[in-house]
Amino acid sequence: MAIEEVLLILAIELCVIVFVVWIAWSGLIGAPWLPTPKNKVRAMLEFAGVNKKDILYDLGSGDGRIIVMAAKEFGAKSIGIEVDPLRMLLSRIAIKRYKLEQKVKVIRANFFNVSLEDASVVTLYQGHEINKKIRAKLASELRSGTRVVSYRFILDGWTPTKTNDDESIYLYVV
Ligand SMILES: C[S@@+](CC[C@H](N)C(=O)[O-])C[C@H]1O[C@@H](n2cnc3c(N)ncnc32)[C@H](O)[C@@H]1O
Repeated sequence: MAIEEVLLILAIELCVIVFVVWIAWSGLIGAPWLPTPKNKVRAMLEFAGVNKKDILYDLGSGDGRIIVMAAKEFGAKSIGIEVDPLRMLLSRIAIKRYKLEQKVKVIRANFFNVSLEDASVVTLYQGHEINKKIRAKLASELRSGTRVVSYRFILDGWTPTKTNDDESIYLYVV
């Protein structure tokens, strides 16, 4: 085999490894990236009664679809927390595209390290196990009356105020 062929195979293998590590990485500390369909995002925001007085945090904000829609269609201020730099970049592009810089920001961080004390709404699409840790964080930081909307996964130990079983949306009021 020629040296060029060996180098090409090595380069392809390296790309595959980088891609797998990139996908697995956020999955190790929380849920991997699975975007919420836009009609479900709208249903979540309607379900929580999001409005222009709200400060909404999306924990693991992916490509920013929830924070962008919360500001664009519901008038809320919104903050996304996303650990993955590429998805954070996609969010920044969407924020710029819709000229939402005054209302929406995205922070690259592990959401366990960001205070949520000024939130009036928290949205999440994570997982069953990680939601147990998230619930403890929410219980210690959120003000009374804050709405928490979870897509697909319940928050074990809390009773939802409202559920939409068809859409798999669970609303909790702290
Ligand atoms: C299932 S996706 C949901 C994305 C977005 N909220 C949506 O509904 O379309 C979960 C996201 O959480 C991010 N994530 C997982 N654990 C995280 C953590 N500890 N801190 C910040 N982001 C995290 C992942 O990178 C991924 O983009």
